[in-house]
Amino acid sequence: MRCVTRRTMIQATAAIAGAAFAPRVPMAQTTPPPAGPFRQDPLPYAANALEPAIDARTMEIHYGKHHAAYVAALNTVAKDNPQIAQIPPEELLAKLGDLPDTIRTIVRNNLGGHANHSMFWQIMGPPGHKPDSEIAAAIDRDLGGLDKLQADFDAAGLRVFGSGWVFVTVTRDGKLAIETRPNQDSPLMDGKRALFGNDVWEHAYYLQYQNRRIDYLKAWWNVVNWPKIAERYAAAKAGSLNI
Ligand SMILES: [Fe+2]
Repeated sequence: MRCVTRRTMIQATAAIAGAAFAPRVPMAQTTPPPAGPFRQDPLPYAANALEPAIDARTMEIHYGKHHAAYVAALNTVAKDNPQIAQIPPEELLAKLGDLPDTIRTIVRNNLGGHANHSMFWQIMGPPGHKPDSEIAAAIDRDLGGLDKLQADFDAAGLRVFGSGWVFVTVTRDGKLAIETRPNQDSPLMDGKRALFGNDVWEHAYYLQYQNRRIDYLKAWWNVVNWPKIAERYAAAKAGSLNI
């Protein structure tokens, strides 16, 4: 056990006082990578970049604790089952039935969670973008326009009982559809691709919105990264969209 001297107390007090006035540091610079073959990509923006739609504390806990826990669990499983890190996640998630019974559920939950969150951080960003003309045309054609997409997507997200996700999936020929999944399940498990999706687990919104999931769902549209979604749409049609 460490001996606490007057000097260490003074140093600790000074550090706490300094931290209170320090600028907020992006999570990507403060979270050590977990040990093992699975890794979180750095958060592509500061933890407070999505405010006021999503507050920094929610982002810090969501990225740094919840997503990190899925990655840590995968790395624990990979110690005795290294094969789970040797094929791309989208391929493994599409073939969960091939895994031994002893690890199938833990891989389903944690690799699903890792894939879902890795997509989720990408498709959000600071406000200020709208769908480009190609995405807007696809939304008009398949989902009745942006207003109807938002209303139907939010309604679907609200209907998810307990924890889960609401997605817009995309086929190889660019067709869009709204789909939901429970827990950390993913369209990847059905061989499909998610163009984008929103996390409706309480951990995604409860600190800021408490039980008001619909308020979170509506505010979330302000931080959708439409340029990234346009990239993912092009990749889907090229057959190169993975998670
Ligand atoms: Fe989450």
